[in-house]
Amino acid sequence: MGATSSDERRTDEEMIGRAGLNDVEAILAIVNTDTDSRFHDVGAAVDTRFTWDYERARPKLGKLYEKAKLTQWNANDLPWATDVDQEAVVMANAALSASSGLAPMMDLSGTPFASWGDREWVEFGIESQNWTLSQFLHGEQGALVCTARIVETVPWIDAKYYAATQVIDEARHVEVFSR
Ligand SMILES: [Fe+2]
Repeated sequence: MGATSSDERRTDEEMIGRAGLNDVEAILAIVNTDTDSRFHDVGAAVDTRFTWDYERARPKLGKLYEKAKLTQWNANDLPWATDVDQEAVVMANAALSASSGLAPMMDLSGTPFASWGDREWVEFGIESQNWTLSQFLHGEQGALVCTARIVETVPWIDAKYYAATQVIDEARHVEVFSR
């Protein structure tokens, strides 16, 4: 793959292998079929941009970089011992929703859900919270690898410095959701 200059943009098709960015069928066709594996490799066709110009020529990005360096946080400092009552969260959400209880406002007759009572719906609500947190976990790992890619591909040193601070931020997000 040849180097690209900043004024030469590759097409969507060159970057992702298809022209339609929002082709839902194509997006849904990308599935992880090896669900027992602990790893998943995704191919990429990007050029990593080195720069030999270390001049700090972009003060706005430099300012963001300095700010990010001064406002680092540590996930270890969060109150991990806080007791979370997931059932109470389910009940609070149900109270806020438009429906008049824990069950969704739809006709469930003839479905396995028809026989569900409050106990089952609370359990469902708790499992839904767990599912959502798990999806966030994977999403944050996506952000982690994407921001690392940004470091690789942005052309200016100030942009690489600042983008690097977003990488550590996303690492913290993964760490927190994992915990
Ligand atoms: Fe994040």
